Amino acid sequence: MSSESASNTGSILAAQSNLTWVPKASEIAIEGGKRLREFLAQGVETEYKGDVDLVTIADRTVEKLIRTRLGEIFPEHGVYGEEGTRDRMEGEFRWYVDPLDGTTNFAHGFPHFCVSMGLEQRPAHLKPEEDGTLVAGVVYDPMRDEIFTAERGKGAHLNGRPIHVSAIPELAETLLATGFPSRKRHNSPNVHFYQEFTLRSHGVRRAGSAALDLAYVAAGRLDAFWEFNLNPWDTAAGILLVEEAGGSVTDFSGNPYRLDSREILASNGRIQKELVALFEDLFAGRNLAPIPTPQEAAAARRKARSS
Ligand code: IPD
Ligand code: CA
Ligand code: CA
Repeated sequence: MSSESASNTGSILAAQSNLTWVPKASEIAIEGGKRLREFLAQGVETEYKGDVDLVTIADRTVEKLIRTRLGEIFPEHGVYGEEGTRDRMEGEFRWYVDPLDGTTNFAHGFPHFCVSMGLEQRPAHLKPEEDGTLVAGVVYDPMRDEIFTAERGKGAHLNGRPIHVSAIPELAETLLATGFPSRKRHNSPNVHFYQEFTLRSHGVRRAGSAALDLAYVAAGRLDAFWEFNLNPWDTAAGILLVEEAGGSVTDFSGNPYRLDSREILASNGRIQKELVALFEDLFAGRNLAPIPTPQEAAAARRKARSS
């Protein structure tokens, strides 16, 4: 089977015949992604949900499409979507849907965004605030025609081929990713963590799609990803991808990740302890790596020029 094209769904489905939800979910995500590509080509107006929290007709249309398709194919399943869908929330299965993860990129024509769909199984006895089990995840990048898929216990795949997290053993050799919120940006301390991790790794990417960041950790393209204040539609699919690819997902203290966690730390597993220890230090104000202020840097440049 070719690993080149996710849209070649026939061969993907053939390779995934042991899977329960991923084949149909892949078809839906690919259909949604195709709509995103069309919207991108035709151009869409941007609206504001908050000060820099953008939304477009593409977000809403693709959520509606996914909601309709899921209703047709899995009529008992619930759907919880970023753009407001709350269908059948009492059911045993619940899809967390981000129809367009990377809206800011999309709105600017920066070709890095995806459709993300994660499926949680919630046994009847579960309290509303308790997590069920993530059982399936699909992340589709329509610009690269890449589909990342996972079902619990059956591994993670990219265009039908198995993927694994990286084997990098220490932070100093890693490529990392993070993201910044589009709401209440001034309340986010993440720029400080961005600085500290940048100074301790090969670099930190801020590519603008949390679901793709997680998928890239699963595929070994990134060694770790962290962010504050994400939502289950951003993370549900990606968490399962990382876990099924052999990685770890926790909060910043190393506790098991919950879908309503305000912190996510995903890695290849080998560097998780080192990252958790560094988070502990940084939150306590220890082990900080000073950088010059712009004024100090300017003074140093002036001094170097005059000597
Ligand atoms: C955003 C992206 C971004 C992350 C933001 C998310 P959206 O999702 O995942 O990478 O940094 O926190 O809100 O709004 O494009 O669906
Ligand atoms: Ca999102
Ligand atoms: Ca979104």
